[in-house]
Amino acid sequence: MSQKSFLTVQNVSHVFGDKQKVLTNLSFSLPAGGFTALVGPSGVGKSTLVRLLAGLLRPSSGQIQYANQLNGQPPSIGLMFQKDNLMPWRTAYENVRLPLEVKGASLAESDTAVQDMLNLVGLTGNEQSYPAQLSGGMAQRVALARALVHRPALLLLDEPFGALDALTRERMGQELLRIWAALPITVFMVTHSIAEAVLLADEVVVMGGQPATITERIEIALPRPRTIEMQGSKQFQNCSGAVRQAIEKIQTGA
Ligand SMILES: Nc1ncnc2c1ncn2[C@@H]1O[C@H](COP(=O)(O)OP(=O)(O)OP(=O)(O)O)[C@@H](O)[C@H]1O
Ligand SMILES: [Mg+2]
Repeated sequence: MSQKSFLTVQNVSHVFGDKQKVLTNLSFSLPAGGFTALVGPSGVGKSTLVRLLAGLLRPSSGQIQYANQLNGQPPSIGLMFQKDNLMPWRTAYENVRLPLEVKGASLAESDTAVQDMLNLVGLTGNEQSYPAQLSGGMAQRVALARALVHRPALLLLDEPFGALDALTRERMGQELLRIWAALPITVFMVTHSIAEAVLLADEVVVMGGQPATITERIEIALPRPRTIEMQGSKQFQNCSGAVRQAIEKIQTGA
């Protein structure tokens, strides 16, 4: 993995309205091509940070800089949330095609990109299904394909598997790693699951406080490819313990 930064967050603070300060003095960077996970208590400001990184919100102060972007604008970004937000009247194929339609691509032009992405997320054969005909895991695969179809440089995931059952969630985590390895993409994922963060990421960033800041960054040196079985290893237990301690420190205010 390259250690070159993909984006750098410098002293970012965010205030909603006049006085609701949610984030204060956040500084961290995402390595290009890396997989970073963000954990922290509910309501701490994780989704706010995702919206800042996506350029959907402007920081009240501080800077977010993207490497290789001369104009300071965010690069192309794929976004995925806990809810799949699929359009129920569109097939899986038509849902994945939507971002390309918005960009003005013709149906013929977008066909290969849509089909390639459906294949990559493991939905070959389900192209014509409607969201109501898909399982929760399959619907999230469609949402992932839709987030990736325009080949973004950055994938922002906000609790993408939070609504799935435990087994499907584990499998989707492994699928995400496979897809990440197949694409030149930097991933930033919010999750409430310590195990998921440790098993997937190169680094776990912990956020806490009111207003919140980054309290710890924990490197996960588990070898790749990662497997579900690694959760039984001493190294995995040590990393999970370190993340858990960092979260407990926030909650006890230590
Ligand atoms: N548009 C908004 N206007 C005002 N306050 C907001 C807005 N969006 C979020 N907030 C507030 O900012 C704080 C952080 O919210 P955010 O959704 O970022 O937290 P979170 O860490 O993602 O929580 P969760 O883990 O529950 O998803 C909360 O107090 C929330 O009420
Ligand atoms: Mg959130």
